[in-house]
Parts: sequence; structure tokens; C-alpha cells
Amino acid sequence: MSLAPPLPVECRRVVVDEVTLGRRVTELAAALDATYGGQDVRLVTVLRGGVFFLADLCRAMRSDVRLDFMAVSPYVPGRGGAVRVTKDLDDDVTGAHVVLVEDVVDTGLTVNYVLGLLKARGAASVEVCALLDKPARRIAEVPLSFIGFELGEAFLVGYGLDLNGRFRNLPYIAEVAEEVVFGGRTS
Ligand code: PRP
Repeated sequence: MSLAPPLPVECRRVVVDEVTLGRRVTELAAALDATYGGQDVRLVTVLRGGVFFLADLCRAMRSDVRLDFMAVSPYVPGRGGAVRVTKDLDDDVTGAHVVLVEDVVDTGLTVNYVLGLLKARGAASVEVCALLDKPARRIAEVPLSFIGFELGEAFLVGYGLDLNGRFRNLPYIAEVAEEVVFGGRTS
């Protein structure tokens, strides 16, 4: 077992440690295997934060999985504008059983948009597997079939989640200190 890296000064506490994360990811993988029972499954992730969860999740699964990636422009609260695709999937999803794998569902706008797109393209089924659910900030109600942890509104980093591009590679999830979030020390 490796030693966890020290908590960055920008963070106040670890919210989900590495062992707890690993255990929950294994449980989610087993739930997906039980649901898809030997069928081909397409795991689709929205870049970039979701790749850490995806990598661990698919390696804990026993189903026959294929991976694909897309990128979208983020919705910025208060600035309006719609989510749009900046990097599309490489493969056709027509007739595929798709699991949209997300690191976090916050406003729900990203998942809402991508779900609509996958269904419009003729996927046989689309379910969402989210490591973190932050329902308090929801704008678009989206169906989450598999949820790792339900958390509050705190700004989180680690395991794919970033603060201006930093801290994605922390092996745990940590809460950023309020003075960093609200004091503008985010770069
Ligand atoms: C995060 C996350 C989701 C999205 C969820 O991505 O990976 O895709 O936000 O937020 P929402 O529910 O409010 O739409 P982000 O835009 O931060 O990009 P990143 O993955 O590259 O960090």
C-alpha cells in the first residue's frame, strides 16, 4: 500500500479516502456487471475528469466493455450558453448499451445534454454511473442509475476533479478551503 500524498495547502480535509474510493468503485463495477450480465457494454466518459474513475471502474468489471470519449464545453452558471460538443465520440452508438460514466454530477446540465445526444443517436439503452452526486446544485433533473457517493456543495478536488487544472491526480477526494474558493486563489 502506497502512502497517500500530503493534503495540499489549498485543501481543508479529505472527504473520501483512497481505500473507501477503491471499495466503492469495486461495488459499482459489480453492480454494472450484474445489470448487463454478459452483454457488450459501451462506457462513455466526458473528458477530462471522468477518465480516472473510468480507468478504475472498467478494470474492476468482468463484462466485455468498450470505451469511448467525448468532450463538451462547460456550462458556466450566470453566463448562459448551452453545453456543446468539442470532441465527439469516435464510434457509432446505434444499438449499443451505453453507460455514461461521470466523475461528478453537479448542475446536471452536462449529463442532460449528453444523455439526449446518445439517445438521439439510437443507443439501445443509456444509463448514468456517477461517482459523485451533488444534488443540492441540480438545475436539470437527470436519472442516475449508479451513484458512488452523495455529497454536499463543497468544492472538491482529486480523483479527476480539478482546481484550475490542478490536483486531478490526488488519489483521494478533498474539500478545497473556502478562502481559496471565495478568495479567488484558484490559480
Ligand atoms: C465536470 C464533470 C462533469 C461536469 C458536471 O467537468 O466532469 O462533466 O463538470 O457538471 P454539471 O453537472 O454542472 O454539468 P468539467 O466541466 O469541470 O471539466 P473537466 O472534466 O475537464 O474538469
